[in-house]
Amino acid sequence: MKPGAPPMKHYLQFKDLRAEEYAYLFERTRIIKRRFKNYERYQPLADRTLAMIFEKASTRTRVSFEAGMYQMGGSVVHLTTGDSQLGRAEPIADSARVISRMCDLVMIRTFEQERITAFAAHSRVPVINGLTNEYHPCQILADLYTYIEHRGPGGVGAGAVECLRGKVVAWVGDGNNMAHTWLQAAEILGFTVHVSTPGGYEVDPAVAGVSDRSCWRVFRDPMDACRGADLVTTDVWTSMGYEAENEERRRAFADWCVDAEMMAAARPDALFMHCLPAHRGEEVAAEVIDGPQSVVWDEAENRLHVQKALMEYLLLGRIG
Ligand code: CP
Ligand code: NVA
Repeated sequence: MKPGAPPMKHYLQFKDLRAEEYAYLFERTRIIKRRFKNYERYQPLADRTLAMIFEKASTRTRVSFEAGMYQMGGSVVHLTTGDSQLGRAEPIADSARVISRMCDLVMIRTFEQERITAFAAHSRVPVINGLTNEYHPCQILADLYTYIEHRGPGGVGAGAVECLRGKVVAWVGDGNNMAHTWLQAAEILGFTVHVSTPGGYEVDPAVAGVSDRSCWRVFRDPMDACRGADLVTTDVWTSMGYEAENEERRRAFADWCVDAEMMAAARPDALFMHCLPAHRGEEVAAEVIDGPQSVVWDEAENRLHVQKALMEYLLLGRIG
């Protein structure tokens, strides 16, 4: 790393950063987003290179990291399992040693969390989790920023992260990577997650790694989870890597579709979010995702802005 660079920090799980660091990141996001909207050039990452490793498909993560890095003056290298030696059993530790000698930052989307942990353990540069079977921290970063933008007092301003405290997020669907990350965020930022999953698809507190039992409650009936919620959110019934279970999951999840009735049980000003891609008529009704409470397009766009703030923070530390 460059002399004067901040101490190396990875972003492998949501809990890798503290509440106060999230407050900082959201404030930087606001500034970086405003500059972008005004076509103001902001290129603090000139001469820096991001390696992006995709072992699973992606649209949003690829475009947001790639566009974000170019917009900040840097460049990217895109690798997949199929077109690199990762797919031919080169050890992950060796890949990390080599890639991190040539690039300044690495983003990985892969299967087991232990793959990214192993990569980070042998990396000379910061590593970002772009989704694993267990977590999707960059998505929750964007979701929280989007919530603050819409419901924070005066949008995103100083202390805006405080507006999350005491809020209720309803999670309807699979106890998956998104659900586990929501639980981590709740513990750090002081809100509660109402979780409703079909039997057999529950969240695993050990995977979530949360110790505060008060930050989440389990509901058998998704309607009950949505009651009084400030935000209702869901995700696909079958995540990447679990396609063999598709038919079984379709049957198990039939009652876990966020529809207008569930939204009506939430607070009148409740927002709807979905990390996308979405399947209308499965986990969410078209009238909800395309309806007035849905902020899914802002949520997707904010991946770009929050990740630019994250890359800036990991590479340059605090600005100003
Ligand atoms: N939400 C999300 O991560 O989307 P992609 O799979 O398209 O990257
Ligand atoms: N839970 C989904 C999220 C996709 C962005 C998956 O892992 O496939």
